[in-house]
Amino acid sequence: MVNYDFDGQVAFITGAGRGQGRSHAQYYAKHGADVVLTGGGRNIETSQYPLASSADLQETARLVEQAGCRALTLRVDVRDEAAVKAAVADAVAEFGRIDILANNAGIWNVVDLVEMPEQQWDELVDSDLKGAWLCAKHVGQHFIDRGNDGKIISTASTAGLVGSKGSGHYAAAKHGLIGLTKSLALELAPHRVTVNAVAPTGVTTPMIDGILETMGEEALASVSDASGSMNVLDEQLIEPRDVSEAYMWLSSDAARYVTGTVLPVDAGMTAK
Ligand SMILES: NC(=O)c1ccc[n+]([C@@H]2O[C@H](COP(=O)([O-])OP(=O)(O)OC[C@H]3O[C@@H](n4cnc5c(N)ncnc54)[C@H](O)[C@@H]3O)[C@@H](O)[C@H]2O)c1
Repeated sequence: MVNYDFDGQVAFITGAGRGQGRSHAQYYAKHGADVVLTGGGRNIETSQYPLASSADLQETARLVEQAGCRALTLRVDVRDEAAVKAAVADAVAEFGRIDILANNAGIWNVVDLVEMPEQQWDELVDSDLKGAWLCAKHVGQHFIDRGNDGKIISTASTAGLVGSKGSGHYAAAKHGLIGLTKSLALELAPHRVTVNAVAPTGVTTPMIDGILETMGEEALASVSDASGSMNVLDEQLIEPRDVSEAYMWLSSDAARYVTGTVLPVDAGMTAK
């Protein structure tokens, strides 16, 4: 494991209750950062699996505190601008600053575009794209007001780089997230804020488990095959820590001149 030094820094993480968000929180804490853990807040009716609970968020906080860092937990649905704005204010009131925004929250579901109800499109695109913009808007304003640098990292997906048969709203949202990343990088460069995205292939988290449970292996296999999403390296699923490592590097001074980029963490999937 590479050693990073985030002592005295504060990372604001969305969707921090479990999966990759929890892993990122543990990594930031391991490298010395205090963390703001956000998640939940409102029901997503069209989700095909249950989202993280308050207990999940508390468990992430326990793990961070075990690593010797401070954690503030806040129930925030990233689709809700008033809640996002209040959370940023609460975080700054508690810790005095935010240095890193980890836009990790998101949902995934499987349905063909011609059959998709409007609500299912809206709830996913709002969670996976609009939410990242709202967090970047309010944390970005904090960076500007503070007159200092900052880091924004968002989790796109390989579905942000290639089409996804059976999950087109997800591909549209994740492609959009990459457009958002590049545009924010241009707008925030004068404030020395870097903005990047990571694009993971399938990751072993409750998201994949949840789809497998409710939709069955066939749904998952059809999305993977149609997207040509067989990884080049052996593993068909990577682990949350693989994505956390990319987050750590992009959050560190080692990546100070890296902005507006998308880093695939995809076991070679999109190299084909
Ligand atoms: N698991 C994969 O195969 C995979 C692959 C590529 C990208 N991703 C992306 O990685 C990110 C993390 O997902 P994960 O794999 O850890 O899954 P996960 O379901 O375990 O975690 C996602 C978290 O986001 C939260 N969330 C969802 N919608 C929200 C909303 N509107 N407001 C606030 N919180 C919300 C959930 O409650 C949960 O805590 C997501 O953006 C996802 O799209 C996942």
